[in-house]
Amino acid sequence: MPARDPHRFINELDEEALGRLVARLESRAKDAVFARLFEKYVQRLALPPGVRVFEVGCGTGATLRMLARRSDFAGVACGVDQSPHFIEAANRFAQAENIGDRAVFRTGDAHGLDIPAASFDVVIAHTLISHVTEPAKVLKEMARVVRPGGMVVVFDGDYSSLTYAYPDHDFGQRMDRALATATFNNPLIMRDLPRLLPEHGLTLLDAWGDAVAEIGRGSYFKSFAETYVPYVKRAEMLPDQAVDRWLDDQCRAMENGTFFAACNYYTYLARKA
Ligand SMILES: C[S@@+](CC[C@H](N)C(=O)[O-])C[C@H]1O[C@@H](n2cnc3c(N)ncnc32)[C@H](O)[C@@H]1O
Repeated sequence: MPARDPHRFINELDEEALGRLVARLESRAKDAVFARLFEKYVQRLALPPGVRVFEVGCGTGATLRMLARRSDFAGVACGVDQSPHFIEAANRFAQAENIGDRAVFRTGDAHGLDIPAASFDVVIAHTLISHVTEPAKVLKEMARVVRPGGMVVVFDGDYSSLTYAYPDHDFGQRMDRALATATFNNPLIMRDLPRLLPEHGLTLLDAWGDAVAEIGRGSYFKSFAETYVPYVKRAEMLPDQAVDRWLDDQCRAMENGTFFAACNYYTYLARKA
């Protein structure tokens, strides 16, 4: 079977696979290193009281709920995702966290939003753009629903930089590539944004990169490998036994303190003309 990005084709997955992705998104949002990357752009945005924030591809709402839980957030956060399963979880989690009055979630397709133009002050794509079918169409929609003078934020990984150390360097590199290809429809898209943003009337204000690395121990990259290795196997990209051995070896490296994994993440802040 050819590689099928699980987040792009989420509505094809069974309950068990969806449950694993919900767990991954929730644990990722709690990861200190990853949460810091979100915090960095939220601080830079300096959101005023009454701000209307919108997230495309909000998943379980982990990112917007993190925003809505902040004591200094005095606005409204809305999220849209194509997965009814994720949206049900997002609203359930928001109710349980007593933030249901300022964080609301519903289903929708990022390529064609059922939302009037200029509805929001800030529009965010947090690890969405690497998964969608047509990134340019999604950027066009983000630019349409943000008000003139409003901000668009695109945050995602550059997945050709995703790497796990492995004693067999050749197989390790093939596994890195297989993980990126099986998991992301657009693994290199973050390199294209300086060109794509202006095409949609978005002026680049700021952009930066962060290397996320785990050395010795693994948590963020442990959950990444455990969640996405099944998709490498499903795509039959490498022999199953070798892939299983790779995962066992990564777990052993985490136990004995010899683990190494890293990936670069980029944040773009752009203003609508
Ligand atoms: C890696 S998850 C990120 C979720 C969330 N932004 C977060 O950071 O926790 C990618 C999400 O994009 C959603 N997605 C992919 N393509 C989409 C589309 N065309 N329209 C709406 N959501 C989409 C998936 O359903 C999935 O929830």
